[in-house]
Amino acid sequence: MGTFTGKTILITGASEGIGRALALALAPQRPRLALVARSAARLESAAHECTALGAEALALPADLARPEDCARVVQLTTERCGGLDVLVNNAGVTMWSRFEAVSDLSVFGHLLAVNYLAAVHVTAAALPHLRRARGLIVAVASIAGLTGVPERTGYAASKHALVGFFESLRIELRGSGVDVTIVAPDFVVSEIHRRALGPGGAPLGASPMQEAHIMTAAQCAQLMVRAMQRRRRLLITSGRGRFGRWARLLVPGLVDRIAARAIRERR
Ligand SMILES: NC(=O)c1ccc[n+]([C@@H]2O[C@H](COP(=O)([O-])OP(=O)(O)OC[C@H]3O[C@@H](n4cnc5c(N)ncnc54)[C@H](OP(=O)(O)O)[C@@H]3O)[C@@H](O)[C@H]2O)c1
Repeated sequence: MGTFTGKTILITGASEGIGRALALALAPQRPRLALVARSAARLESAAHECTALGAEALALPADLARPEDCARVVQLTTERCGGLDVLVNNAGVTMWSRFEAVSDLSVFGHLLAVNYLAAVHVTAAALPHLRRARGLIVAVASIAGLTGVPERTGYAASKHALVGFFESLRIELRGSGVDVTIVAPDFVVSEIHRRALGPGGAPLGASPMQEAHIMTAAQCAQLMVRAMQRRRRLLITSGRGRFGRWARLLVPGLVDRIAARAIRERR
């Protein structure tokens, strides 16, 4: 029997990367998982793997850039599972371009829609159910939600918005029994780098990262499960991320240089 045994957990962005790894890491505790993303085929395969590990799993294809889809996935989850205990706002997209090179500024709106507004819409629909369950909201932000990162202006802005929203909501929810865990991963091996939107708004197609030198999605998921079990306020997955959080108060120029080097060295 684990913390999440029999609990209903909705994970957005569960077809790939961190979301999929989190679903697989939670599955042995035998929760009910509602898995959301656009790709029905990838979701079905994730649901199949989770079921084999002991979970009940529901694949709910949806485009979370559309507010009506955000409300629909919560409604379907609660109808089929009888409630909702944990919401993991994880779906996300990124960019890779210096600001002055961006020729298609619609990238900025798209990043906000998926990384920030989708979480707002899903959370709005989920909150009445989470209140009843005295549940947990997880927001997967990024170190780029805590500090600036070059080549990522629109991404960092969307993640700062996400962090600001959930830091504020946490205070509003004091005494309700609903907790908020913010996750700020450093670089993780996933599909997000290959899919990053370049200067013209098209995906890069190949990951620019030094993938042998960065955390795997499974490692990130293990850290997340522990943070979720403890209902921690904030999980930062790397030493340099934890260092940067405090160092920017005293030596902000040093933190800028660390961020610039991480992007230059792609790790
Ligand atoms: N990987 C990193 O280095 C890193 C670092 C810090 C933070 N993060 C954050 O971690 C989260 C997960 O990212 P990841 O690295 O695991 O990326 P990923 O492998 O690309 O996975 C992203 C997930 O989001 C889904 N998604 C994207 N757009 C969507 C939309 N419009 N509607 C519904 N689902 C959508 C994708 O599925 P479909 O394409 O099928 O819709 C996929 O399941 C993101 O919020 C990201 O910003 C990642």
